[in-house]
Amino acid sequence: MSDAYILGIESSCDETAAAVVRSGEKIVSNVVFSQIATHQPYGGVVPELASREHLKAIVPVVRKALADAGQTYQSVDAFAVTQGPGLAGALLVGISYAKALAFALDKPLIAVNHLEGHIHAVLLEERQKGNREIHFPLLALVVSGGHTHLYLAEQRGEGWSYDNIGHTRDDAAGEAFDKVAKLLGLGYPGGPIIDKLSTYGDSAAVKFPPSQIKHRDRREKSVRSEATDRPRFDFSYSGIKTAVLRYVETHGLQPSIEARRKALAGITKPKVEDYLARCDPRTLDLVASFQRAMVEDLMGKALAAARAYNAATLFVTGGVAANNELRQRFEQEAAMEGLPVYFPSQPLSTDNAAMIAAAAYPKFVVKDFAPADFSAEAGMALR
Ligand code: KG4
Ligand code: ZN
Repeated sequence: MSDAYILGIESSCDETAAAVVRSGEKIVSNVVFSQIATHQPYGGVVPELASREHLKAIVPVVRKALADAGQTYQSVDAFAVTQGPGLAGALLVGISYAKALAFALDKPLIAVNHLEGHIHAVLLEERQKGNREIHFPLLALVVSGGHTHLYLAEQRGEGWSYDNIGHTRDDAAGEAFDKVAKLLGLGYPGGPIIDKLSTYGDSAAVKFPPSQIKHRDRREKSVRSEATDRPRFDFSYSGIKTAVLRYVETHGLQPSIEARRKALAGITKPKVEDYLARCDPRTLDLVASFQRAMVEDLMGKALAAARAYNAATLFVTGGVAANNELRQRFEQEAAMEGLPVYFPSQPLSTDNAAMIAAAAYPKFVVKDFAPADFSAEAGMALR
């Protein structure tokens, strides 16, 4: 089959993104317009504002992705767009635009699950490096602001099939980073700043009980799915957020947090030094201990699942996979178990459209095109 150039569009949350990928294995262009500045004052993504920002950005972002790739609307072979999961109003902007392009240019349109996109971000970059030795069954930990899922993936012809063997019962891991950062007056999004500040604190200073899920089987060694009787590896991160809050209250950190929040709000793009100048050692220890607890929990569960299901490969992907300590710990521990572990590069860990164009390629090959009446699916599952 000759090369296929797919233009991918992603608008599920707070990034408007477009990219051109060749045959699922080469990023030809990759443009991401982040709305962080819009949502920052609110300490989280405001859905209505996200839709409005996507509407403003979508045409210039797509034009830039085509120009950077030396392609045109006419020259690409197909369009791909995120169908879900995500914010319905945000998804609809990308979907409407992609539908209009496919209709006007009479080209195929492929609907992609955002979570499958995160998994294919890893595959895309491995292929780009020339690695074709990915073995199945493959375990994928998708860990982002909206999701914390474990999928067991198998290859089925050109495409993949997915079995969810774990998910969060409350907050997603990235959400916990964001909420703890907000609680400590560190701004939004929380993950990148907690990542940076953690190196300045003592990660053993504050002990968090292992974030066990509040589940009636919690005392049993492994939890099994009632439907399939297979082991499940669920997560729970609302408890650790409450534990941080309790620490703040019992140690009287509130006044310094308020002072920090006010001071940082007055700086347009605060640098690490700006945060460090406003964080006492106790806060830095708390931040480092929180990150350590999150990383150990994610890693412990992912590796236990890999053992239980005899996974041949581990993928760790999604925004939180950008975390430096998480990467190091997974690499160390997986190496000890002889399990190959792969991450996307940091730019491809967070939301982007290259992963959408890459995940669309196997569907393009088998002509699995979206029907004309498809719509956004905010709670779309991956199978
Ligand atoms: O994948 P993503 O861009 O969007 C979703 O699909 O949710 O992930 C964004 C999430 C945010 O919660 C952000 O705080 C987190 O990823 N994140 C990080 C890091 N960079 C982004 N969390 C921990 N460490 C990081 N370096
Ligand atoms: Zn995402």
